[in-house]
Amino acid sequence: MFAVLEASTSTDWRGRAVDAFIIVLILASVVSVSLETVPSVAGEYSHILFAFDVFSIAVFTVEYALRVWVCIENPVLGQYGAVKGRLRYMTSPMALIDLVAILPFYLGFIVDVDLRFMRVFRVLRLLKLTRYSPAIETVFAVLIQQRRPLVASLIIMLILLVVSASVAYMFEHQAQPDKFGSIPHSLWWAIATLATVGYGDVTPVTAGGKLFGSVIMILGVGMYALPTGILAMGFHEEFRRRDFTVTWGLVASVPLFADLDAKQIAEITRHLQPKLVPPRYAIVRHGEAADSMYFIVSGEVEVEIHPHPVHLGPGDFFGEIALLKHQPRMATVTAITECQLLFLEIADFQRLLRDHPMIAEAVTGVAEKRLKEIEAMNLVH
Ligand code: CMP
Repeated sequence: MFAVLEASTSTDWRGRAVDAFIIVLILASVVSVSLETVPSVAGEYSHILFAFDVFSIAVFTVEYALRVWVCIENPVLGQYGAVKGRLRYMTSPMALIDLVAILPFYLGFIVDVDLRFMRVFRVLRLLKLTRYSPAIETVFAVLIQQRRPLVASLIIMLILLVVSASVAYMFEHQAQPDKFGSIPHSLWWAIATLATVGYGDVTPVTAGGKLFGSVIMILGVGMYALPTGILAMGFHEEFRRRDFTVTWGLVASVPLFADLDAKQIAEITRHLQPKLVPPRYAIVRHGEAADSMYFIVSGEVEVEIHPHPVHLGPGDFFGEIALLKHQPRMATVTAITECQLLFLEIADFQRLLRDHPMIAEAVTGVAEKRLKEIEAMNLVH
């Protein structure tokens, strides 16, 4: 059930089918909520729309309950135990969104609330779609990263808005006391003009007002360039960070390759591939078939061995045992922080060991030591 529901990390076809079904249901149920507000449709089909809403809420409720039930299969949450792990999951943003999607329906039974008011909250179930777009995470990361320049540009906008409303008031309030009667009144004109929307319901009539209005229109175009530029730069930086390139220097910094000469490092650089993983991501799973080994460039991972999990950091490697012994993975390895990893596919790994006996010896030595550690732990417990 965990593999099916957390389909983003598995290639399970059932997972993909469940995802597709939920996505279609979310979209259909939001269309249905919107249609309820069309009087002619609501009058004739209200019972069908209500039945469909009950059906979608029932599915979302079962989905929520199942997600809470299986969440502790995730090793990071599982380590907190059945109750605490689930509570942690329930307070995560994704679980809260799932709850918000179903809560308005149930609240309607408990408290006497205005149904029209509740309808607005029912469309919040659209937020559930965020689960299915990994890029959404990037958007939030960029917003958080660029929050300072964004707030600065917001302050500039605010200053521009208030100043233009005040100047427009000065020019126009005598000619049009109904529209520019006060600075707060003029704010409506200022925002519509600065945003380059220009509804045209309020327009300056005096020569001074028109001249000033022209300046504001030009400034308005520039004002949006500022946050747009900040966000574009933020996205560019974030993507560059994610698709970090495997450079000679990066490979040379891996202790295992320290004794190689420049030409040999250049050769290995060609075979190592980059991978950036978010926190809590299971990089390899216990029992899985293995196809590569990993080097940690930055970040920290946890090797789930009981009762004492092992933490590995920059310069360490893992995933070598399964390749050396031709066996499934001995343990699950999960990212604790965001990690930049380099991985080597099995064929390249074998070539590396064949061409460099020193590296083969070092990797085998570490693997033997780890196997002994696991054996010792099994004996004790
Ligand atoms: P593999 O079995 O391919 O996948 C899980 C990996 O966890 C394993 O290779 C090792 O690289 C790593 N591992 C296993 N035991 C230990 C240990 N005691 N200390 C550090 N890493 C370990």
